[in-house]
Amino acid sequence: MLLKTLDLCHDVPTAEGTLRILDHIDLEINHGDSVAIVGASGSGKSTLLSLIAGLDRASAGSIQLDGQEMSEMSEAQRSALRQRYVSFVFQNFQLLHGLNAVENVSLPLDVRGEKGTRAKALHYLERVGLAHRATHQPSQLSGGEQQRVALARAFASEAPIIFADEPTGNLDAHTGEHVADLLFDLNREQTTTLVLVTHSDALAQRCQRVLTMNAGRLQAQEPRS
Ligand SMILES: Nc1ncnc2c1ncn2[C@@H]1O[C@H](COP(=O)(O)OP(=O)(O)OP(=O)(O)O)[C@@H](O)[C@H]1O
Ligand SMILES: [Mg+2]
Repeated sequence: MLLKTLDLCHDVPTAEGTLRILDHIDLEINHGDSVAIVGASGSGKSTLLSLIAGLDRASAGSIQLDGQEMSEMSEAQRSALRQRYVSFVFQNFQLLHGLNAVENVSLPLDVRGEKGTRAKALHYLERVGLAHRATHQPSQLSGGEQQRVALARAFASEAPIIFADEPTGNLDAHTGEHVADLLFDLNREQTTTLVLVTHSDALAQRCQRVLTMNAGRLQAQEPRS
């Protein structure tokens, strides 16, 4: 078991009082799984993804990543765990402005002291079809191009788990299928575990499992073969 949650709950303060946005989520994800999280807008998908990726601290319950209990960790400890296990493709990309495309992809590799990071970054930009935009700033890229830089950054880190929030949301059908192919190639070739949030049925159907969120609860688990 790579990732496991038990009674995971998340509350946020609002003007009307405390709002429960995740309600007793139990889930298990195995090494090498591909899992789609689907559900209506506002059902809690992004919140769930950010908690299980260790980006945020849950209000209550347990989240274990490779047997390590994240709910009891400090931000620094969670950050160290993320560096080792996780790459994340954000719904709004979160590219760093002031760095061009190739620098955005290589930065996480530079931070961990890798050598030859520019060549590796260029390789992954090429794989997402963006070699010709390597020196563009995020502001000089279309939404879909920024999304592909974010995907290249996630791929380049070669982490055991990729969490991706609407990874094809801004892409045309053809480009979306191409980056989905890359995601599933990594899943197969490098046994990368994939956890994605998507509104695309076509993308969800390519995953081994589909989990449905409904108003903060996990509704169904449909096993696939
Ligand atoms: N910090 C916050 N404070 C108050 N409400 C929040 C906060 N974060 C999320 N919410 C609310 O929690 C609910 C779940 O949000 P979340 O972003 O997880 O939804 P989602 O399923 O990813 O939706 P979408 O498909 O539109 O991206 C939403 O109703 C949202 O308004
Ligand atoms: Mg979302």
